[in-house]
Amino acid sequence: MTEKRQILVTNALPYANAALHLGHILEYTQTDVWVRFQRMRGHQCYYVSADDAHGTAIMLKADEKGISPEQHIADMRSIHEADFRDFHISVDNYHSTHSDENKHYSELIYNRLVENDHIAKREITQAFDAEKKLFLADRYIKGACPKCKAEDQYGDNCEACGATYSPTDLINPVSVLSGTTPIEKQSTHYFFKLPEFTDFLKSWTRSGAVQTEVANKLGEWLDSGLQEWDISRDAPYFGFEIPNAPNKFFYVWLDAPIGYMASFKNLCDKENINFDQFWGADSSAELYHFIGKDIVNFHALFWPAMLTCANFRTPTKVCVHGFVTVNGKKMSKSRGTFINARCYLEHLNPEYLRYYYASKLTSSVEDIDLNLEDFIQKVNSDLVGKVVNIASRCAKFITKGNDGILSSTIADTALWQQVSGAGTVIAEHYENREFSKAIREIMAQADAANEYIAAKEPWKLNKDPNQHQQVQDICSLGINLFRLLLTYLKPVIPAMAEDGEVFLNDHLSWSSIEQPLTGHQINNFTPLLQRVDKEKVDAMVEASKQEVEQANQIVIEGPLADEPIADEINFDDIMKVDLRVARIVKAEAVEGADKLLALTLDLGGETRTVFSGIKSSYQASDLEGRLTVLVANLAPRKMRFGISEGMVLAAGDDDGIYLLSPDSGAQPGQRIT
Ligand code: MSP
Ligand code: ZN
Repeated sequence: MTEKRQILVTNALPYANAALHLGHILEYTQTDVWVRFQRMRGHQCYYVSADDAHGTAIMLKADEKGISPEQHIADMRSIHEADFRDFHISVDNYHSTHSDENKHYSELIYNRLVENDHIAKREITQAFDAEKKLFLADRYIKGACPKCKAEDQYGDNCEACGATYSPTDLINPVSVLSGTTPIEKQSTHYFFKLPEFTDFLKSWTRSGAVQTEVANKLGEWLDSGLQEWDISRDAPYFGFEIPNAPNKFFYVWLDAPIGYMASFKNLCDKENINFDQFWGADSSAELYHFIGKDIVNFHALFWPAMLTCANFRTPTKVCVHGFVTVNGKKMSKSRGTFINARCYLEHLNPEYLRYYYASKLTSSVEDIDLNLEDFIQKVNSDLVGKVVNIASRCAKFITKGNDGILSSTIADTALWQQVSGAGTVIAEHYENREFSKAIREIMAQADAANEYIAAKEPWKLNKDPNQHQQVQDICSLGINLFRLLLTYLKPVIPAMAEDGEVFLNDHLSWSSIEQPLTGHQINNFTPLLQRVDKEKVDAMVEASKQEVEQANQIVIEGPLADEPIADEINFDDIMKVDLRVARIVKAEAVEGADKLLALTLDLGGETRTVFSGIKSSYQASDLEGRLTVLVANLAPRKMRFGISEGMVLAAGDDDGIYLLSPDSGAQPGQRIT
């Protein structure tokens, strides 16, 4: 084995404003497989991650939920950490960009940029929401496209005709936050003088630090001239205040990559690791960032420039992957192909997906399709049909025929050497992030093992007592080949490998492929993996559709901490809403919907069916007979379960839902005014 490398690996820090979905899981699987492989090779490999907790979106999300940003990011962090854990992502530390360490390094790096005269300061004019008192990023402004006049387009580009423009060009622009027309307002901003790093970046991007296709794209940007990068945002902003610049905050993308350092520093303090050995300008350790193609400019332009300017080392490699599509298309909420990580976990084994992604991942930036039919087929035929099958066919002969002790010789040394020797090329493929090639090679070796067993037919030989030793030798080799295959697959399917280790009574590492197990006691075989059940995949797709429907359910919200009172309306407006007393005559759970009850309502002569998202707070049978309030003239809404003919009123939030009821004595059908 070569010398022991010191490696630090990161994945892109997920935003603390949404749950993880199967696109994120592609990246975290890619990173984790590579990390586990390095550890199996005996290298020292740390893997750190964190939540990316700053920015306007997160501040607004917390507002919307009526909680503080700190509470919101704490909630998201524990959700993200659980997803990481349950997909077997083996991070050594999971931290947050809203942390002391990150504040420290953000200020340190910024101060060094200032000292080296790489920060400029000037006034700029921006769109401003005078009601919300917020400067508006392009995505918070909508209007009609100046070119094709399509309505409802974002401030930077038109989804209808593809035109790009600035928000001031929009026809009738409005703030998405308040609906008011934005005004223009000046403010001082701080800029990182990126153009001064053009020569440095031209050579860094060609140094092997990024894939050639990525370097080519960056080359286009570098040739057409870099712009100074605006790194400040005005208060109110959830982030770190800029030193000596009251009410100015670091733009989230300034401190986000510094979060890599912060998480590692946090680990160093816990485990007594030398931080400078990994981040010092003369570090000989390796630093790898795994990211998606949408955030290349931040990682391969701004980040190395900042690091070098602030006297830190630059990344060894920025490894860029493409995007996940599902069944050939962009993930879509209405088709049920926008699948959250947790929804997947509720239906399927995480290792199916890890294996499928690994079988498709390459070192290129191409998108990766999760085709659900192919997913079922591949996992079943490869993992269950080829790999587990070897052990299940051979184990019983050893257990019954020889008390679980493997033969002391290898029946076919050429075959053993072939499969064991394949470890070299498989390792190269892993190292180069050519996981699909690694998997193809492993499956080719699995085919060879299966062919051997099929040709030898130990189950036939076993009928003849004279062939006892032969059967033992064949099946012992089968088990040894299975052991090699499982070792090669261990970075991809760590939990199954762990169960396999119990069965084999052995620890699988890359160096253990050199020697077979002979005269070795194994344990009873228990099935290591179930086949993927198509019904569960269908159920997951259904559940994903429902999550979207339920998110669209209207529950009138209660007095949330700072839920602002809506815009004023007049008497005519309120009279448009026809509220009626209704009696709940029947309440039933809706099959396939976690949150919905189907209510049959008596309006005093007319009966209505309404689907209401109140199941978490009420027993259906307790509701029967009770009075409530119905919005009776709401247009019927077609839902997956049927048509909802109106809406019942309730107050509530995540902690509880409270159905409105008139005092007793009110009559079904009475109008509420
Ligand atoms: N917070 C930033 C990253 C900061 S890193 C200092 C961010 N967060 S993200 O949650 O939007 O995305 C996290 C990672 O997931 C990114 O690398 C992104 O490319 C990746 N993916 C998001 N959607 C994806 C797919 N559909 N497919 C594959 N990867 C995807 O960006
Ligand atoms: Zn347009």
